[in-house]
Amino acid sequence: MELNIKNSTLKILITGGAGFIGSAVVRHLINDTEYSVVNVDKLTYAGNLESLKEVSQNERYAFEQVDICDAVELNRIFNQHQPDIVMHLAAESHVDRSIDGPSEFIQTNIVGTFTLLEQARAYWNGLEADKKSGFRFHHISTDEVYGDLPHPDDVIARSDNDAAIHNSELKINNSKLPLFTETTAYAPSSPYSASKAGSDHLVRAWQRTYGFPTLVTNCSNNYGPYHFPEKLIPLVILNALEGKPLPIYGKGNQIRDWLYVEDHARALVLVALQGEVGQTYNLGGHNEKQNIEVVNMICEILDELAPIEKNATIKNLKLNIKNYKDLKVFVKDRPGHDMRYAIDASKIQKELGWMPLETFESGIRKTVQWYLNNRAWCKHVQDGSYQRERLGSKL
Ligand SMILES: NC(=O)c1ccc[n+]([C@@H]2O[C@H](COP(=O)([O-])OP(=O)(O)OC[C@H]3O[C@@H](n4cnc5c(N)ncnc54)[C@H](O)[C@@H]3O)[C@@H](O)[C@H]2O)c1
Repeated sequence: MELNIKNSTLKILITGGAGFIGSAVVRHLINDTEYSVVNVDKLTYAGNLESLKEVSQNERYAFEQVDICDAVELNRIFNQHQPDIVMHLAAESHVDRSIDGPSEFIQTNIVGTFTLLEQARAYWNGLEADKKSGFRFHHISTDEVYGDLPHPDDVIARSDNDAAIHNSELKINNSKLPLFTETTAYAPSSPYSASKAGSDHLVRAWQRTYGFPTLVTNCSNNYGPYHFPEKLIPLVILNALEGKPLPIYGKGNQIRDWLYVEDHARALVLVALQGEVGQTYNLGGHNEKQNIEVVNMICEILDELAPIEKNATIKNLKLNIKNYKDLKVFVKDRPGHDMRYAIDASKIQKELGWMPLETFESGIRKTVQWYLNNRAWCKHVQDGSYQRERLGSKL
């Protein structure tokens, strides 16, 4: 029997549900469906239960503070909660941290995924036929496993005559520049992406070797509410509001394909419930932007929503700046920095009918507004060790 998605008693075990994307998935499941959720999270610096405040009292929500490397605890959780689906998001996720200290990344992303797969497989093997045939293990991964793509600047250098590409304003012509598809070869560049690539391989091997029912999604960069302030977008918003420098790696021309986190959460739940077992789906926002463009857009929105003249912190600092863009500083590039990521998301669109609802313009405005409205959340999640210091730059 296949998974019956109309069965409102379905229970979904989510790992990493206190993180940025995991918490968006949990909020979506509790607010917009009738399913139950078990959130398994170790609560590292990146996990914050405050991101789940609005759903944590719901009777369909349960929390287990457990490390996915702990086989004994995972075994207990599977037997106690009897999930129908696993959505695996728990990971060490910050590239700069992986450069400074790769060990945690190998531990959680590879050993943790292996441990979870083995405990899930043992549980699945013991299920009754009906429940067993509907069970699914959805592994959430990144487009960074594919390495990077040719950047328009390189293409310009190589084909000076091509008027369609030779454009100083960097108009990206997708028909000329390749995108990542589900069959692009893996070529990870950083300890983070290598560890995620390793975990993807384990998941697919478990499908092939044991017939264990898995699905994999590889997604582009996410942005939106509840993003820990070490990543580019929240870091720029908060540094700007506090009159701190806005660091731009290298020339700032690295291209990322941005997806609003709530669009990602909807896609993940769709794949977990209705994707074809054994398949991979690429997810992206059709929003290729250079980092410098992203920083400029944030500054312009802040100039409008929180003008410098009314910003008391900046006034007190007596900074001689006219607008937020004046805070930009160019810093040495990250070692091994990928130049361009861009996703071909046509498979999920065709097969499951998913499309992002937000454009980058609408999503970034919502995001800036959210950070303006939620300074307390930012303060609380930063009370730990991280204070927006520069990471990944020891080399
Ligand atoms: N953020 C992005 O742009 C992006 C894009 C594509 C894919 N992804 C993938 O999506 C997933 C979630 O990313 P995110 O940005 O929400 O990450 P995040 O760093 O915000 O959250 C990770 C969560 O996992 C938990 N965790 C870490 N180690 C754990 C362990 N050993 N056991 C249990 N829990 C543990 C943390 O406490 C945290 O709540 C990751 O697998 C990441 O590789 C992220």
